[in-house]
Amino acid sequence: MNVPYHIAIIMDGNGRWAKQRGLSRSVGHRKGLERIKEVTEEAKKLGVKILTLFAFSTENWSRPKREIENIFSYLEKFLDKNTDRLLKEGIKLNFIGRKDRINKNLLKKIEKTQLITVKNNELIVNVALDYGGRWDIVEATKKITKELLEGKLHREDMDEGFFSKYLSLGALPDVDLLIRTSGELRISNFLLWNLAYSELYFTKVFWPDFDKNEFRKAILEYSKRKRRFGGV
Ligand code: IPE
Ligand code: IPE
Ligand code: MG
Repeated sequence: MNVPYHIAIIMDGNGRWAKQRGLSRSVGHRKGLERIKEVTEEAKKLGVKILTLFAFSTENWSRPKREIENIFSYLEKFLDKNTDRLLKEGIKLNFIGRKDRINKNLLKKIEKTQLITVKNNELIVNVALDYGGRWDIVEATKKITKELLEGKLHREDMDEGFFSKYLSLGALPDVDLLIRTSGELRISNFLLWNLAYSELYFTKVFWPDFDKNEFRKAILEYSKRKRRFGGV
């Protein structure tokens, strides 16, 4: 099986999963977080090298305050419970996204987890939190403009490869496979630049039901695709 090097996932459908069961949306978010463990383990087993997970978008702030609080508090607990395991399993956890709107305690935990796992190299897991693809491109442009004005950078240096180093995922290779659960057929402002040539896989399965078999199905489908990159 041709396994993708870099997989990105839009983990969607937590709310509908819960609603179907007469539960609150928050229960769906909790279940959704638990799924991350299984998918991460399977990714490592199959030899995937980078997993980039969309956990909270720059647009998700428009949700009810209570729901937002629950999402962040579950994430904090998840980090408390799982950092040791990540360390043992050789997983490097990396957060991408805005840092200025996230609660200080959570931010501290995020930084701690990143620091503890920084030397791991079995699998990189990027968690996109308060992340937006457009925000990412604007941030990169701001950094570049600053360096241009300071004379550290010259206009002639700029090309696509160079530009991408200023984005959140830096020098990491582009996404090979994008998976979106829950039946929605859109990108929702996820990694715009890094998805330029990704294979897209959409499934109706809600994220809390997306188990390792569903994950394998997506990879199997990917392995049958013929990637041409504009060639013949
Ligand atoms: C994805 O599930 C999780 C986040 C966006 C935080 P949703 O909460 O969007 O679930 P649905 O799409 O409403 O079912
Ligand atoms: C995208 O899901 C964001 C995450 C999964 C974190 P949304 O549920 O927020 O996206 P829309 O509203 O369906 O586009
Ligand atoms: Mg959704």
